[in-house]
Amino acid sequence: MIFPGMVDAHVHLRTPGGEHKEDFRTGSAAALAGGFTMLLAMPNTQPPLVTLESWQNAQTRAQSESLCDVFLYAGAPANHMDQLPALAQHAPALKIYMDQTYGPLYVRGLANLMPIFAVWPAAKPICVHAEGESVALAIGLAAMYKKHVHICHVSRKSEIELIAQAKASGLPVTCEVTPHHLFLTDADAARLGPYGDVRPTLGSVEDQEALWQHLNSTIDCIASDHAPHTREEKEQPEGSPPGVPGLESTLPLMLTAAAQGRLTYTRLIELLSTNPRQIFNLPEQADTYVEIDPAATYTFPDHPLYTKCGWSPFTGMLMTGRVQRVVLRGQEVVRDGIVLNYR
Ligand code: NCD
Ligand code: ZN
Ligand code: ZN
Ligand code: ZN
Repeated sequence: MIFPGMVDAHVHLRTPGGEHKEDFRTGSAAALAGGFTMLLAMPNTQPPLVTLESWQNAQTRAQSESLCDVFLYAGAPANHMDQLPALAQHAPALKIYMDQTYGPLYVRGLANLMPIFAVWPAAKPICVHAEGESVALAIGLAAMYKKHVHICHVSRKSEIELIAQAKASGLPVTCEVTPHHLFLTDADAARLGPYGDVRPTLGSVEDQEALWQHLNSTIDCIASDHAPHTREEKEQPEGSPPGVPGLESTLPLMLTAAAQGRLTYTRLIELLSTNPRQIFNLPEQADTYVEIDPAATYTFPDHPLYTKCGWSPFTGMLMTGRVQRVVLRGQEVVRDGIVLNYR
């Protein structure tokens, strides 16, 4: 089967400041091996991308060091509000951390959120890390300021049902779901220990089933939330950082679901390519496509992982569907599942 290049609208490539976890080269190699030709990378780096200078430095490096197309989010600051108009001209979207998660960016409280929504232009999405009541707050702000809010990694039944209602009311809200919230639950969290610790945490079977029920309607995108941390960091007895890698497992998992008839291949392409390209107004990639063997069965991973962290919560899973070949702007970059001219 021939697919368009997949787009992952939510990854952490850790440059600058976290290059021991991942960098643009290793993260983008993992992307290509996983069938992604375009990434949107998060601003919770060190320093965080909350000033035009830090954003431009990182975007310049992304362009020269990555093996696929990488665009960077601007981060919403608690201070540095003066930088937002300039960032809005350059970055494809804004990211606001409305709840505590990994990294230095956390915007707490309505009084800090309102000026951000007032300043950011309506034409570019405001992506939010929002859990529980924060989802309702984000939807309320979308309504009051008439700004497009994209809710990241939705994980709970109540959240997806509220988003469905917001969309039915015509509010400018879109959302994404991760494969780990579709394929893992709190039972897996207990089994995986720190390797299953992620924000939002893995949900109940009921949460998981609700996400699947909304896959053909409310959910706009599948995004990996690729969040690599080293094994050493994960095994720290206290303060181990939340996050799991996902660039190399996302398409195999969704292909497996398609092979089982849980969604169609057409819907898979919408969720992983058409919709993120449209929501974030991303440029076209000419002569770019992915060759899939939808019937190949194997135990994941079928190649040494390209992500620098070197582990996956999905190791040992039986998959149906494999990335065979990737062509980016007319150039073959993956053959037989191997990134060419890399190792
Ligand atoms: C992410 C990270 O490690 O940067 N961690 C996570 O658990 N998802 C941050 C985030 O996306 O919330
Ligand atoms: Zn998050
Ligand atoms: Zn997002
Ligand atoms: Zn994330």
